[in-house]
Amino acid sequence: MTKQTDNGYASLAPDAQGCYPYTEDDRTVWGTLFTRQMDALQGVMVDSYLEGIATLGLNAGNVPQVVDIDKRLNRLTGAGVEGVPALIAPTRFFNLLSDRKFPIATFLRRREHMDYIEEPDLFHEVFGHCPLLTNNAYCDFIERFGQQAQTLGKGYSWHMFRLFWFTVEFGLIHTKDGVRAYGAGIGSSPAEAENAMNGHAEVRDFDLMDVLRTPYRIDIVQPVYFAIESFEALTEALDQDLVALIDQAKSLGDHTPLFDQAA
Ligand SMILES: [Fe+2]
Repeated sequence: MTKQTDNGYASLAPDAQGCYPYTEDDRTVWGTLFTRQMDALQGVMVDSYLEGIATLGLNAGNVPQVVDIDKRLNRLTGAGVEGVPALIAPTRFFNLLSDRKFPIATFLRRREHMDYIEEPDLFHEVFGHCPLLTNNAYCDFIERFGQQAQTLGKGYSWHMFRLFWFTVEFGLIHTKDGVRAYGAGIGSSPAEAENAMNGHAEVRDFDLMDVLRTPYRIDIVQPVYFAIESFEALTEALDQDLVALIDQAKSLGDHTPLFDQAA
């Protein structure tokens, strides 16, 4: 539990009740992030995400505890969350997802990283990922994704992470009100929320082969997003022969990146 991230964030240890020791300073950081992001997300995120924030009882006054979210999700969708160190192995990651459980890094960013942090922290994990875990169709996708990634094994992980990136992290969805976002990287970042909706980034209809061949960079706002029709359709896409599709994506090669290769 002493492993540190590049920015010096160490994993937190829970007490006997499973609660993490957040400080008064953490409470202020959480409250500031929560209030700012709630203002930024109206008309950006899909309704079920915004409803999920209320359903989970997330608010500006308290840093949420993983155990409380886990209990609520268990009752609502049979999903759950588990506190993990900031960096976990892909096998553990996929294993948790296949159990309908989402891994949650539990440290919270410091003030100097208020606007951007490369590592997923508690705000990204809880505010970004957990609201949609109140939605059964979304949880079905998460579970199916985990099962498939686990079955496919190491040689296919890289492409499965791409699929994860362009859906769970930065996915858009067509709604009756127009395109909205459901990805956690958009939900938890003001810059990404603005970028996804300002019309400057490319928005493509979701196509699995297209996604599998599209490279990404983790340290910039995204130049391209993919919009799904529904979570059900996304899950169905995973029922295809992924071995054959990923092999084909590998032999066709990657699309030319829409970003500079060098940082
Ligand atoms: Fe994430």
